Amino acid sequence: MLQKSYAHQLLDGLTKDQLYKYIFSELPENKAYYQKSMNQAVNAIVEHLENRNEPFSGASLEEVKVRFSKIFIDDTGYGATLHEVLDELKELYLNDAISFHNRKYVAHLNCPILTPALAAEVIISSINTSMDTWDQSAGGTFIELKLIDWTLNKIGYPVDSDGIFTSGGTQSNMMGLLLARDHFIHQRYKIDPKVDGLPPEATRFRIFCSEVSHFSLKKNAALLGLGQKSIVSVPVNEYYQMDTHTLIHAIEKERLSGNIPIAIVGTAGTTDFSSIDPLSDIAEVAETYNLWFHVDAAYGGGLVLSDKHCYKLKGIELSDSATIDYHKTFFQPVSSSGFFMRNKTHVDYIKYHADYLNSKEQEEEGLPNMVKKSIQTTRRFDALKLWMTLRMMGRKKLGQYIDDIIYLAQQTALMLRERGKFEVLNQPEISAIVFRYNPIPGTRIDLCSVNAHIRKAMFNEGKALIASTKVKGQVYLKFTLLNPLTELKDLEEIADIIQKHGEEYFRNN
Ligand SMILES: Cc1ncc(COP(=O)(O)O)c(C=O)c1O
Repeated sequence: MLQKSYAHQLLDGLTKDQLYKYIFSELPENKAYYQKSMNQAVNAIVEHLENRNEPFSGASLEEVKVRFSKIFIDDTGYGATLHEVLDELKELYLNDAISFHNRKYVAHLNCPILTPALAAEVIISSINTSMDTWDQSAGGTFIELKLIDWTLNKIGYPVDSDGIFTSGGTQSNMMGLLLARDHFIHQRYKIDPKVDGLPPEATRFRIFCSEVSHFSLKKNAALLGLGQKSIVSVPVNEYYQMDTHTLIHAIEKERLSGNIPIAIVGTAGTTDFSSIDPLSDIAEVAETYNLWFHVDAAYGGGLVLSDKHCYKLKGIELSDSATIDYHKTFFQPVSSSGFFMRNKTHVDYIKYHADYLNSKEQEEEGLPNMVKKSIQTTRRFDALKLWMTLRMMGRKKLGQYIDDIIYLAQQTALMLRERGKFEVLNQPEISAIVFRYNPIPGTRIDLCSVNAHIRKAMFNEGKALIASTKVKGQVYLKFTLLNPLTELKDLEEIADIIQKHGEEYFRNN
């Protein structure tokens, strides 16, 4: 009470109602203010959609920096209306936001998102459930559990499997490597790494993945105390898949040099090429050498939605753990991802009982708690987005989206090849195409410079956004197609823009 009247005095002129209306609450004033605010925020987005036809405004870094240099957080404070703040936000952010929903955004692995999931976002952030324990989430726990079971079933794991929603593929991959590491230590050295830490031999642990697997594996290996050198990059074949003979050779080589193989990571949907490693064959190798097998299906996980393409994930059911990103190929807003393990007892490697949160007694009473399976404590109710999506749309409609983008990717690769001005490196297994502008094959032109110029010029212009990557040290361009609304004619227009910038480069150099 003392504090409230103190604040009251400080903010002279404000009534108590005016001061506290911002707090989300059942009080009539607050409820009305909430509803009005939400409407205004939605209106700002609708206006943004109306005014924005291109994926990017083309604003330069300098322009944006200057705008922020005029903002002093302490100076504003109370007094600004939501309307004013939203107006300011247009200038600072919305007008230049990168539109992942735009049909000509074909750069990174960002999908357009679904309205049922956006409606869920409002509920998620308003109710603000935290998923760690039953006493903070109640029915939310069962919504997440249902979706975990559904995904486990789609992966093809046995009944004793389990999973958890995570913040993204990077965190899910970390959990995969963490369980792989601790399972190995527990089996081999009969110690509990959770309590005892790592044995000295851990500096010689080795994890095998393809040379085009995601960088989060290296980053996570470092965070897990194994060092980036623990990651052995296995060369890929002409289809950008891990070659299993080379894999076996790499395992043998490491063993001969005194290192200790502990795990293999197969990728289902590589970031650059969308290629899928031969999962069944890798599973066999993992079994032969008694290694943990993790599948990074952050990108390819969405294939489980498609009756036509789900066969491409064959072998994932034989893995020990898997990553699936709902915020990539399930058309969900960031963040929404899952980590799945074949054997639910493996969760013991990370399980912890905190007396204030998930005591042993509560567990014995049968109260579910999700915190034991997660490396986070407070955790968003991201599951609700997928829940509302699937309850409203069903799996098959999402599967149709996947079929559409794969078909579009195949047509696009063909279109690029037929133009005769592009070198296309891969036939997309899902929806990523790596290529470069090379109008006069065989001549000694600097292809790296022209292709780097094209990507940069396109970003500065903003009419269409594409990505670039390097393959064997050479700069290439990349399309990642995740928008079922994008049509071949959009890609043809993008190819025209690429050619225009390429020709311009040659004229000026
Ligand atoms: C194959 C793969 N794995 C993992 C990740 C990391 O996922 P996130 O960005 O959700 O952490 C990515 C991201 O693009 C990816 O392509």
